[in-house]
Amino acid sequence: MSGIVIVGAQWGDEGKGKIVDVFSAKADYVVRYQGGANAGHTLVVNGVKTVLHLVPSGILHPETNCIIASGVVIDIEGLVKEIETLKSNGYLANPKQLLISDSATIILPYHKVLDAAREKALDGAKIGTTGKGIGPAYEDRAARRAIVLSDIFEKDTLKEKLELALLEKNALFQSTYKLESVNVDELMKWIAPLAEKLAPYRSRDTSAVVHKAIKNGKKVLFEGAQGTLLDILHGTYPYVTSSSTVAGSACIGTGIGPTSISKVIGIMKAYTTRVGSGPFPTELKDELGERMRSQGHEFGATTGRPRRCGWLDLVALRYAIRVNGITNLALIKMDVLTGLDKIGVCTAYELDGEIIHEFPSKAADLERIKPVIEYMPGWKEDLTKLTNLKDLPRTATSYIDFIGNQLGAPIDVISVGPGREQTLWVKPLFTN
Ligand code: IMP
Repeated sequence: MSGIVIVGAQWGDEGKGKIVDVFSAKADYVVRYQGGANAGHTLVVNGVKTVLHLVPSGILHPETNCIIASGVVIDIEGLVKEIETLKSNGYLANPKQLLISDSATIILPYHKVLDAAREKALDGAKIGTTGKGIGPAYEDRAARRAIVLSDIFEKDTLKEKLELALLEKNALFQSTYKLESVNVDELMKWIAPLAEKLAPYRSRDTSAVVHKAIKNGKKVLFEGAQGTLLDILHGTYPYVTSSSTVAGSACIGTGIGPTSISKVIGIMKAYTTRVGSGPFPTELKDELGERMRSQGHEFGATTGRPRRCGWLDLVALRYAIRVNGITNLALIKMDVLTGLDKIGVCTAYELDGEIIHEFPSKAADLERIKPVIEYMPGWKEDLTKLTNLKDLPRTATSYIDFIGNQLGAPIDVISVGPGREQTLWVKPLFTN
């Protein structure tokens, strides 16, 4: 049993990409199992930045096999660009390093058009989506009219399926959104060269590949996208993404059983961020929030949007530990808090005059919450050059210990900058 899930414990952008990249040095496989190009996983190796949206973050290690599993929604144009950029930067020399599930749903331009049109129509009640067509593509999957990767290699099937899918979409475009309808033949012409470029990577059954790897004792990392609080069922609905982002989704999106997972690593920032609309109890709408944003470069890797910033929220994190079954934690961006006199941590919520310790399931309740903040002393030292845990300032260690004790889960990794080398190990991920 050697499947390890890496999951975002907040509202996404926790730094999963960096941690997966670092862990991938010892992994045999890295599997992306949900979400799409709404994700932006940033990796920094020797000062060079790579941003991945769909390709798993293990790709920079040539010996690590990467899989895009069936639960992912694939922007085929974006994926081709990503693959070409990787190749021109000297990665992915062997096409066999990347396998893409034939049964993954694909995102076509009309999904993005619909995503944008819906957001425009929502006006003041916008979700603040990334505009990447994620919601409309998952909707098509649930409605059983999705185009899957294997379809783009079979002309007749593709035409038939597109005609069916567009029957409804075109009616919607014309009547509700006053947009031009989509022409099937033109769309097929657009798809053909992309299909040709993706053909070397397609795999008929990625579930079987992962199953075999686990059975043979290989080390498999499952790379989550977005974060727990954006989960379609367990997040701050309706201000969520359209996939299941919690750790259980690794099994569903890949097609393996829960008994194949031995550990769930929750990735958390040393503070909290959120992009898009929706409740955020510890948000700082003042200079402190601004400071976190500029010091932490808190701008979306996919959309460039400024992220909302706030104190660490232990109530939300305890909830994330529960719904994911998190066994271990990785604490990211400790360096960003350097220079603050005191650091706030939310330990409970006040709702209608009552102190609560559980994360409310209703978004409307979350909007009314007042966070109970405890303050801890800050530190002035630059942490970005540290290579050893014992060199952390005493106040930083107290902050980490406080979080670990409050959450009741071991913090195994501490990150003090975006680079691979800026990682302090408390405990190795793989024991053998
Ligand atoms: P969608 O996934 O594009 O439909 O966006 C739905 C919500 O999830 C919006 O609030 C987005 O900002 C948020 N979201 C989607 N992907 C990410 C991500 O990778 N990081 C952070 N927020 C995200």
